Amino acid sequence: MGENTKNTEAGLAAAAAVNVDEITARRRMRRSRGADWSRRLVRETRLMVDDLIWPIFIVPGTNISEPISAMPGVNRLSVDRAVEAARMAADLGIPALATFPNVELERRDQTGSLALEADNLINQATRAIKQAVPDIGVITDVALDPFTDHGHDGILRDGEIVNDETVRAIAAAAVHQADAGSDIIAPSDMMDGRIGAIRQALDAAGHQNVAIMSYATKFASACYGPYREAINTSGLLKGDKRSYYLDPSNAMEAVRDAGLDVEEGADMLMVKPGLPYLDICRALKDNFGLPTFAYQVSGEYSMVKAADAAGYIDGERIMLETLLAFKRAGCDGILTYFAPEAARLIAKGLG
Ligand code: PBG
Repeated sequence: MGENTKNTEAGLAAAAAVNVDEITARRRMRRSRGADWSRRLVRETRLMVDDLIWPIFIVPGTNISEPISAMPGVNRLSVDRAVEAARMAADLGIPALATFPNVELERRDQTGSLALEADNLINQATRAIKQAVPDIGVITDVALDPFTDHGHDGILRDGEIVNDETVRAIAAAAVHQADAGSDIIAPSDMMDGRIGAIRQALDAAGHQNVAIMSYATKFASACYGPYREAINTSGLLKGDKRSYYLDPSNAMEAVRDAGLDVEEGADMLMVKPGLPYLDICRALKDNFGLPTFAYQVSGEYSMVKAADAAGYIDGERIMLETLLAFKRAGCDGILTYFAPEAARLIAKGLG
């Protein structure tokens, strides 16, 4: 009823004549929404610090913390500074980190051979973090993109990202990462058969206790732009990743693809990007019941930060709402650049 009719006599009479209980049959959804104590009592999902995985970027050198312009508030850290960040994250109660290296451009090549060096930057970071902060989980990506001079996640031969050769390289890289102390290997490359190959390679090397979190459904998304600036692949990337990442149009195919990863031995599944793919999060959780994670990727982070900086939205509230949405959609946790910020707000009771 409009404000002006409300004040007329006819309007008041009409309002009195409406018996809402006849309409609702006395079911009032609002009863439990009236008070804070009651809303807390009926709350179905909660965001906790235990749900957060913090992705961080590593650079060579010491005492470096350099801003990433497309990701306000996120810095590339040298290993020593990453150790400090890990300690801070552990103090906040964040269960795990995910590390991404930004190596020198001159060390990148056609096959990403640096991925196969036992003491490369990502493995140095893992060793240092596990030694200084043993109680925080370290999750490492084995995709080749930080190490290739063309920015693709696999080996490029005659214009094609070759599957099986890439899988062999990734499985070998996974063993080096586990040797360095990685707790969870997380392949983000979307090659076929990689989960089984990584599992076999890890087991053969005595790493039965190292888990695999599959980037099971990774979509060919426009949301990865700022990450590519962070690890300096945007200038290198030729073409796009549509010949190996999932088509954003396909949900059924995503479930089938994740199903193969489950068969091959994935311990955990991930959906990437996050918010535009909540339907996939729900589908994976319902279909497989595995621990399921969403990666709220760089573009998602930057959109919130940019709109907040412009004064268009309340960035903190939007951040918490998006993180909660992942929980509601069935996720057990979220990889998010917001992790420390969110952890601090949760500690203040704002989650
Ligand atoms: C590639 C990789 C990507 C991200 C992490 N590893 C995507 C890509 O560059 O195609 C994206 C992470 C983000 O956007 O936050 N293996």
